[in-house]
Amino acid sequence: MNKKKIYTDFPLKKLNTFGFDIRAKQYFEFTQTKEVLTLLKNKQYLLLPRLILGAGSNILFTKDFDGIVIHPNIKGIKITEDFRDHILLKVYCGESWDNLVEYAIENNLGGIENLSFIPGTVGASVVQNIGAYGVEVKDSVEIVEAINIETSELVFFSNHECKFGYRDSIFKNEYKNKFIVISVSFKLSKHPVFNTSYGNIEDKLKKSGKINLSAIRQAVINIRRQKLPDPAEIGNAGSFFKNPVINKSQADFLKTQYANIQLYPVSDLETKVAAGWLIEHCGWKGRRTGNVGVHDKQALVLVNYGSGNGSEILELSKKIQESVFEKFKINLIPEVNIF
Ligand code: EPU
Repeated sequence: MNKKKIYTDFPLKKLNTFGFDIRAKQYFEFTQTKEVLTLLKNKQYLLLPRLILGAGSNILFTKDFDGIVIHPNIKGIKITEDFRDHILLKVYCGESWDNLVEYAIENNLGGIENLSFIPGTVGASVVQNIGAYGVEVKDSVEIVEAINIETSELVFFSNHECKFGYRDSIFKNEYKNKFIVISVSFKLSKHPVFNTSYGNIEDKLKKSGKINLSAIRQAVINIRRQKLPDPAEIGNAGSFFKNPVINKSQADFLKTQYANIQLYPVSDLETKVAAGWLIEHCGWKGRRTGNVGVHDKQALVLVNYGSGNGSEILELSKKIQESVFEKFKINLIPEVNIF
């Protein structure tokens, strides 16, 4: 076994976009499948608490991690099937998500352009079922290849078997920390159908005067840059909470009380509410407490002004949950993974 690759007391400051200075008791990074298979042969590692960590863009560490952090870092993008209307692209877990989007657009392949500029890795994209501007990664995923940590078996999951939901998949539930995603095969279209109806993408495109993959990417990047803080400047993990889904009857009632509440119908019985709107209307937007706060342009994003720590963010998030519940009787559920 290649012992060199297991580090102890490893700093994770660069592996969490909140930028918290915490450490992992043990840390293992692999760039080839065979390296992780070698690690898994050593059963002592299977007994430790473990965390599979991509770029750390959706995680809140409140303390040092007392176990082994496994950082999948296999790179590579290759076309595995080339059909008349679409291609299958096999992308390894350690590729940056946004590099993949850029690659797709350079090659005139559609399907993921609305997901431009989302931080994180390809491996994590399917765990989280990342989404933005009316598109989710699940819309393009064909197959997920993952290793069963207990048995070292390579397993192929169809899209259906991934049990994708809103910011959710089987890898966050029954298979949480049980599988390591190795690669994802995406089905991308040679004749893309543009999805520009969400928010102000259409307005931005009208201003630029053209509708194509690059223009959509640029519009999304511009919108994200305006609303979301750059983790390289201000630590954050994107949306801290999910947009809650409530009963339609409760939503109808809230609409009578708050005419401009932002609601999205989910089904005849359920409605999604913009959590950012709820948080803003409890007075949190732009508020700072100590070293942490609520972003001034998007209230769903909690930020670390530099010297904050994870417990401060957690405490702030709890206060926000309490006030949203008190005012609207809605429970906010964190979107980030908290450790
Ligand atoms: N809003 C407010 N105040 C705020 C923030 C938002 O009133 O402070 C209102 C907006 O005016 C808008 C509505 O809430 O009417 C929705 O806002 P926005 O379009 O910014 O999106 P979101 O629902 O807050 C979700 C995703 C984002 C994704 C955007 C765009 C979740 C939890 N978040 O945010 O994803 O970029 O839609 O599609 O679903 C992420 O997951 O980390 C993330 C950034």
